[in-house]
Amino acid sequence: MYDRYNRKINYLRISVTDRCNLRCRYCMPPEGIKLMRHDDILSYDEITDFVKTAVQMGIDKVRLTGGEPLVRKGLVELVKMITGIDGIKDFAMSTNGTLLEQYARPLSEAGLQRVNVSLDSMDPHKFRWITRGGNLDDTLKGIDAAIEAGLTPVKLNCVVKNSKEEYDAKKVKDYADRMGLEIRYIKQMNLERGEFAVVEGGDGGNCIKCNRLRLTANGKVKPCLFNDLEYSVRELGAKKAIKLAVENKPECGTVNHNGHFYNIGG
Ligand code: 5AD
Ligand code: SF4
Repeated sequence: MYDRYNRKINYLRISVTDRCNLRCRYCMPPEGIKLMRHDDILSYDEITDFVKTAVQMGIDKVRLTGGEPLVRKGLVELVKMITGIDGIKDFAMSTNGTLLEQYARPLSEAGLQRVNVSLDSMDPHKFRWITRGGNLDDTLKGIDAAIEAGLTPVKLNCVVKNSKEEYDAKKVKDYADRMGLEIRYIKQMNLERGEFAVVEGGDGGNCIKCNRLRLTANGKVKPCLFNDLEYSVRELGAKKAIKLAVENKPECGTVNHNGHFYNIGG
């Protein structure tokens, strides 16, 4: 699929839940979040049907995101269902890693190829502060398990305030080097204020090269993270929703007044 600006659209990011077992300061508002209604969340059958249609239309790269994807019950089943779809060349997941010790092996056996793990600090206290209660050791054990299970290359997502020269980012980089992992630095963004930047080491945030569509957990296809446009899969059907999203994909992101990272999937 090509959009109006001749960008080839072949990458689908699927947010499977808006829930998360962490509360990262840059992602979740302090007052807590208004969760999606259970009835509005797409079932695994609906997601799988959507992916089949998307792949027929030209998607060949799929990533599961959240919230935290692994807090959704039975996620390994969804991975199996998507693995069964012919034509996906790259199948990955973005996770905070806390549940990977338990799930890395089953995910790998179900056909997931690789994971990106969020890691912003190597200091247990700072990690606990940023995530409002998370345990650094869980994530580090999760990374070990992912490597062992062959969910490689494991990439680290490190959110920075301004630059990769910040203390915490440097410590994460040292760890990445010791472990032989790739790292990408994501500058802290603000959807409502339209603050976003190119991801260092990755392709996110670069509008000229953007090849993405997003599916939210409640079934909205979004052409752009920094825009309010969305097309309902249940109302329009997958094919039409995808077609409209591609046709209306903006040249560049601006602001998103309604969405949040935890419900669009970063
Ligand atoms: N700015 C940048 N990235 C964010 N994420 C969540 N909130 C933000 C934000 N405000 C992304 C990061 C993080 C993942 C959980 O979501 O990549 O690693
Ligand atoms: Fe693509 Fe929108 Fe992100 Fe720009 S802001 S890179 S157009 S998804």
